[in-house]
Amino acid sequence: MTGLVVAMDGPSGSGKSSASRGVARALGLRYLDTGAMYRAITWWMLRKGVDLSDQAAIASRADEPVLVSGTDPESPAIQVDGVDVAGPIRSQEVTAAVSLVAAVPEVRARLVALQREIIGSGDIVVEGRDIGTVVAPDATLKVYLTASAEARATRRTAELTGTSVEAQQAAMARRDTLDSTRKTDPLSMAVGAVELDTTALNLDEVIAEVLRLIKERA
Ligand code: DC
Repeated sequence: MTGLVVAMDGPSGSGKSSASRGVARALGLRYLDTGAMYRAITWWMLRKGVDLSDQAAIASRADEPVLVSGTDPESPAIQVDGVDVAGPIRSQEVTAAVSLVAAVPEVRARLVALQREIIGSGDIVVEGRDIGTVVAPDATLKVYLTASAEARATRRTAELTGTSVEAQQAAMARRDTLDSTRKTDPLSMAVGAVELDTTALNLDEVIAEVLRLIKERA
């Protein structure tokens, strides 16, 4: 018998992370941030001096880094080759480069396999871009979170320093275009997903709605 799997997909700034952690906490489930895994592998590639404009170079080293992802919603942990990278993977440098690495099929194949291993028998909330479409198409519930471009940029700006809403909106638009137009597993709404527009909702309202949807299905 497989446990609960909640797939939370959507673009950056749609409120995925906070909502996913909140839902996991409320139900005592595990939590997996797959974006952190793409960021961690990007951090490693940058550190090794891999030329990120060269897809073949990225592909040839995709299996090298040893990734360990925690699943505790209270303290999402991630290590690469034994180094805690939870902080460094949020840097501007990694954020600007991650879409290039996430577009490489060999990277995706490796991370999707790892993610399925971690999901295992379930009881987990998984957030990303391709969870409902590729990683866990049989998830109990698939949610596709959206929000207006302005709301998403405003949220991201509040989390960062030294940036403006306008600059964030432009950077996010660039990243969204890369993420949704790449050939392998682009960001798209899964069949059977419930679209949840969070523009006018606060965090508690988003969590309450996802909990209601889970109850409806489970
Ligand atoms: O959610 P995030 O901003 O931390 O994600 C970082 C990048 O990783 C984002 O540009 C898209 C990519 N990503 C992906 O391609 N597939 C996933 N399942 C999760 C993230």
